Amino acid sequence: MPMSPPTDERTAVVSGVGGWVPPHVVTNDDLSAHLDTSDEWIRTRTGIRTRHRVLPGMATSDLAVEAGRRALENSGEPRAGAVVLATTTPDRICPATAPDVAARLGLTGVPAFDISAVCTGFLYGLATAAGLLAAGITDRVLLIGADAFTTIVDPLDRSTAVIFADGAGAVVLRAGHPEEPGALGPIVLGTDGELSHLIQVPAGGSRQRSSLRPQAPGEQFFQMEGRDTFRHAVDRMSTASRDAVRAAGWTVADLDRFAAHQANSRILTAVADRLGIPAEHQLSNIAAVGNTGAASIPLLLAQSHADGRLAAGHRTLLTAFGGGLAWGATTLIWPKLPGS
Ligand code: UT7
Repeated sequence: MPMSPPTDERTAVVSGVGGWVPPHVVTNDDLSAHLDTSDEWIRTRTGIRTRHRVLPGMATSDLAVEAGRRALENSGEPRAGAVVLATTTPDRICPATAPDVAARLGLTGVPAFDISAVCTGFLYGLATAAGLLAAGITDRVLLIGADAFTTIVDPLDRSTAVIFADGAGAVVLRAGHPEEPGALGPIVLGTDGELSHLIQVPAGGSRQRSSLRPQAPGEQFFQMEGRDTFRHAVDRMSTASRDAVRAAGWTVADLDRFAAHQANSRILTAVADRLGIPAEHQLSNIAAVGNTGAASIPLLLAQSHADGRLAAGHRTLLTAFGGGLAWGATTLIWPKLPGS
C-alpha cells in the first residue's frame, strides 16, 4: 500500500471572531465626579475616553458567553471540541469558569478550563489551543478572553480605576495547514516572576487566606506599580514582537496591521515607534473600551474585523504584556471568515 504523503494539517487556524462589552458606559467625567482626576489627565496619559462596566449581577462568564456565541456564529458552525477561557476575574476561585461558559453555549461534555496569565492570557490561550489541535485532542477550539476587571479594581484608586474595564473577545481555531490564511505563526511567550509584585491582588489566594487573618486595607484589590510596569511593557512587547516577526520569516516592513494589548495609548505608540510601524497600521480601540485585560486583543480583532480596519489578507502582528510579568507575540495573515 502506498504511504500517505507527509501532512502538516494540525496548525491552529483562526476561523471565527466575536466580541462583546457590557452596555453600561462610564465616561472620564463620571470618574472625575468621585476621584481626584480629570478627563484631560486620563485622555492625555492613557488615551481612554470611555469604558464599559458590568453592573451588579453580571459576571465574567456572562461576558464570555456573549463573545463566545458571536465567534461561533461568525465561524459558521456552533460546534467546538474544547473551550479555553483566559481570565483574571473568574466567577469564583473554584471551580474554573470555562465549564459553565461551555455549558451555556450548548457544549456540555467538552474539555473546558481557564488560563491565568492576566493581560497576556489570550496569547497563552492561542498557544494552548494550538497545542490541543496539534495533539489531536479536538479539531475546533473556542478561545475566549474575558475580564470583569472593575470587580477587582479599587474604585477609589485613581491609578487603576481610570484604566481597567470590562469586556470579552473570542476566536474559533480549527486544525489546518500552516500555509492557509488564518494560520498562527510561531508564538513567542515569556515571564519574569521576579517582578510579580508589580501587578497583583495580594489577598484571596493561598498565601493570604482571608479566613485565617484579617486583610490589610486594600489587599483584596488589584494593585499596579504603573511607572515600572509601563517601562517593562514597552521593552517586552517590542522584543517579543521582533522575535515573532523574525520567526515567521517576515520583516516589520511586511506588516499591514499591529494589534497590541490595549494597555495605554502611550505604550502602544512607544512600541510601534521602536518597531517602526506607521500609525496607519496600528489597530486601536482603547479610547472607547479602556484596558480590558485578557479580552483586549480578541475584542480589538473582533471590532476591527467588523468595521473593516482588519481585512482578509492583512499580515498582522499580535502582542501582549501584563501581570506575571508575562508577555507574548505571534503573527497571522487575517483570513476571510465565513460570517463576514
Ligand atoms: O495591562 C497590563 C499592564 N498595564 C500597563 O501596561 C499599564 C502601565 N502603566 C500605565 O499605563 C501608566 O503608568 C499609568 C496610566 C498607570 C500612570 O501614568 P503615568 O504617566 O506613568 O503616571 P505616574 O504613575 O508617573 O504618575 C504621575 C502623576 C503622579 O502624581 P505626582 O506624584 O507626580 O504628583 C500620580 O499621582 O500622576 C498622578 N496620577 C494621576 N493624576 C490624575 C496617577 N493617576 C492619576 C489620575 N488622575 N488618574
